[in-house]
Amino acid sequence: MASDRAARQYGHGQLEGNSRAVTSGQSGPHEALRERLERHAATTFRKPIAEHNRAAFATIESRVQEDGRPLILDSGCGTGDSSRLLARSHPDHLVIGVDRSADRLSRRRDVTPSNCLLLRADLIDFWRLARESQWRLARHYLLYPNPEPKARHLQRRFHAHPVFPDLVMLGGHFESRSNWRVYLEELAIALAFHGRGARLKPLAFQDRPLTAFERKYQASGQRLWQLDSEDPTLTGTIGIDKTGGGHLA
Ligand SMILES: C[S@@+](CC[C@H](N)C(=O)[O-])C[C@H]1O[C@@H](n2cnc3c(N)ncnc32)[C@H](O)[C@@H]1O
Repeated sequence: MASDRAARQYGHGQLEGNSRAVTSGQSGPHEALRERLERHAATTFRKPIAEHNRAAFATIESRVQEDGRPLILDSGCGTGDSSRLLARSHPDHLVIGVDRSADRLSRRRDVTPSNCLLLRADLIDFWRLARESQWRLARHYLLYPNPEPKARHLQRRFHAHPVFPDLVMLGGHFESRSNWRVYLEELAIALAFHGRGARLKPLAFQDRPLTAFERKYQASGQRLWQLDSEDPTLTGTIGIDKTGGGHLA
């Protein structure tokens, strides 16, 4: 069976693969997404920023300014495995992993390279603070965000949340991975609404999974998906498509 094969491929004799595929009443993008995007584009998101998030941001803002290297943001980094791997593969960048879960961040399994900073903060505030500080990212990762598959929880998905325009303004090559294709289809639509083209494709089997969730999903034999979106200001490509289509491969 596919799941047994994936678990064997993962190795170490561990059967990590017991996670179930996402189930949802939605078989395609949410019909209210476009209306949500229009509403959020026309209004200003005014929820006050929590003091603890402001303080957390301040602890790294000075380091970011001093460092001067191009920035990679790993949003919702969980245990920070991906942030550490990205820092090793991009030694000329500063990698910042952000997650709100102190528990996940504390599960450190490896040495954190000196060009990697892990921070506990809520992204809803962090993205706004980064935008206020005029951060421009080289790369931005959103790996296995919580899918929130219930249709009535649409607004909990980052692309349908009022903070999404702030995320887009941070720029950079944007990459997201998920075990729920619909999430990435919606993300592509939301990016297209903001003038960013995106490509969606199946993720090939990863010999070295980038994250804990990727390892778990692969070991369970789940199909995984990857969305990539180039930053038009970095590549010179124009991706304005407000029809909601995006560029889906
Ligand atoms: C499914 S886990 C994926 C974690 C990691 N990227 C991985 O693939 O192993 C989703 C992560 O997003 C974090 N998260 C969800 N909403 C968040 C928010 N508003 N601010 C910060 N972190 C958030 C959770 O704490 C969790 O660690």
